Amino acid sequence: MAIVLSSPEVDELGGALGALREWQYEGAPMQLHPGDLGWFWRFGAAATAAAVRTWSRDGRILAVGLLDGPDLLRLTTAPDARQDEELARRMAADLTGPERGVLPQGKVSVEAPRDALLQEVLRADGWDTGEPWTPLRRDLTEPVPDPGVRIEVVGPELATERAAVQRAAFDGSTYGEERWQAMAAGPLYAGARCLLARDARGRAVAMVTVWSAGPGRPGLLEPMGVHRDHRRRGHGRAITLAAAAALRELGASSALVCTPSANPGAVDTYASAGFRRMPEVPDRCREL
Ligand SMILES: CC(C)(COP(=O)(O)OP(=O)(O)OC[C@H]1O[C@@H](n2cnc3c(N)ncnc32)[C@H](O)[C@@H]1OP(=O)(O)O)[C@@H](O)C(=O)NCCC(=O)NCCS
Repeated sequence: MAIVLSSPEVDELGGALGALREWQYEGAPMQLHPGDLGWFWRFGAAATAAAVRTWSRDGRILAVGLLDGPDLLRLTTAPDARQDEELARRMAADLTGPERGVLPQGKVSVEAPRDALLQEVLRADGWDTGEPWTPLRRDLTEPVPDPGVRIEVVGPELATERAAVQRAAFDGSTYGEERWQAMAAGPLYAGARCLLARDARGRAVAMVTVWSAGPGRPGLLEPMGVHRDHRRRGHGRAITLAAAAALRELGASSALVCTPSANPGAVDTYASAGFRRMPEVPDRCREL
């Protein structure tokens, strides 16, 4: 059977979400997580569907991609399809070849699991090594230490404050309350939680959103940030510990996060909250 590339409609997204959930298992190399789609859902259901691509054979989804920006495709495959040569070649052709229909012209990047055959095929097709990313993992077998600050679970009444911390943490962010509403209305938010940390004076200083992929599977932190006026006071470590505790409550087997290796302080912050570095994964990039 041939491999079929599809762009699902909103009401067809369930297959891709279910597959992504199923593919998360303890010990898997860092890969696209349902939480990445949950976070993308801040742009709404239609935009999320428009950003998703699937590759299937005989009706079974073998790979899911998310256009996390017009020139960046983040993807993963079913664990048993990582070394599937027909799939890797078809995906490479869809990304690079004359009939490509996934990425625009210009400089583009692809993020794929480090053990995917696609990595080799893209390298052979002339793709370069791009920005290095550092995945980190925290075991959740034992209870997580208390973060030592006031932590609140964000519901609609705290959405404005949570959004303000997001903008104060990420340069150029336009995240507003309406984005939180859209994200929280998405189907993936049922397995998610947003947390806000307050300092001793009650000011909202840090936020995180965590995403479960179901009990016994690794969960994801995306995003995490500290207000730029309140950094280097332990709030990053505190909100990260609170995130790990929330994922443990949601039944996750471990907490995962991925950050650009060059992000000042982020790797140190996760490490200070008990996360261990996993091998770096570079994006693949090239000019199309
Ligand atoms: C990265 C970030 C969360 C750190 O928050 P923070 O409140 O300043 O961090 P903490 O005070 O809890 O520091 C935790 C550890 O990281 C270290 N650290 C924090 N920022 C650092 C920096 N800029 N350079 C070097 N080390 C740094 C601290 O020294 C501390 O280490 P220690 O436990 O060994 O003493 C914050 O800078 C931020 O929000 N950045 C923008 C958003 C972002 O990048 N989020 C993560 C993306 S995945």
